Amino acid sequence: MALLKIAKMGHPVLSRVADMVSDPTSAEIKQLVDDMVETMLDAPGVGLSAPQVHVPKRVIVYYVPETRAEDGIGEPITALINPVLTPIGLSREYATEACLSLPGMAGSVPRFMSIHVLAKRIDGLTFEREISGYQARLLQHECDHLDGILYPMRMDDLTTFGYTDELGEPDVEEDLGESACARD
Ligand code: NI
Repeated sequence: MALLKIAKMGHPVLSRVADMVSDPTSAEIKQLVDDMVETMLDAPGVGLSAPQVHVPKRVIVYYVPETRAEDGIGEPITALINPVLTPIGLSREYATEACLSLPGMAGSVPRFMSIHVLAKRIDGLTFEREISGYQARLLQHECDHLDGILYPMRMDDLTTFGYTDELGEPDVEEDLGESACARD
């Protein structure tokens, strides 16, 4: 396993649409996922997409700490390949997000409250689930990276965008580095 360098906003790899993975079970993808998990935990963060480690492929890793889970159970470390998100209903809510590619910053982002997720796992099995709340927000954030979208591009009130040491702690932080909850 290896720690990977995280791309920051401005790097072209974060602006492009990532490529579909043709074989989710390949050794190359297994290695990528292992390295992404190590990099995510080291950051520390709760989510990471392949473009953020300079690999333009449709791969994300994430987990939900039990302290952040509505059910109090959380979600173990999960890798999703070629994920497709579909909103369930039109309800959206605002919460503050941060991102490992925009260190030290946060902003209030509207996200769908419930989504349907269809993806492949690295064992080749299908992952299909309806997800809401914190985890739905996290997956929308990560999957946006696969389409070259960073959270400020989803914001509709840039007065809420700024440095975390001025704004206070974000509600959902891909980047847990500066957060009380990483503690989260
Ligand atoms: Ni991010």
